[in-house]
Amino acid sequence: MPEHQEFQKLAATDEVAPGELKQFELDGRPVGLCNVDGEFYAFEDICTHQFAHLSEGEFDAGAGEVKCPLHGARFDVQSGEAKSLPAVKPLPTHELKVEDGEIYVALNPKQVKVGGRRRR
Ligand code: FES
Repeated sequence: MPEHQEFQKLAATDEVAPGELKQFELDGRPVGLCNVDGEFYAFEDICTHQFAHLSEGEFDAGAGEVKCPLHGARFDVQSGEAKSLPAVKPLPTHELKVEDGEIYVALNPKQVKVGGRRRR
């Protein structure tokens, strides 16, 4: 396993306008890409609480946060930090670079586990 994932082309910068959040796909993983005042951030587009695509929730570019459409957990799009319950685990964020109007992303090896069995 390579220690660092390779950068792969995700989208063109003009595909996501300031204040927008959209879903793209890379290596079969849903990637949320958002534009906060011209700065781009990419993260796993799966809520760490249960299963929902955050790109279908509310994106607040002013706060730099996205709100899950299912139960309303909020995440910081830059750090991935869970800002409110019911989510507690951070969102995996992806390294990103912009070159010549294209956005390249190195996928975070960490993935959100979906449908994992819970033991109580
Ligand atoms: S699935 Fe996102 S808050 Fe519950």
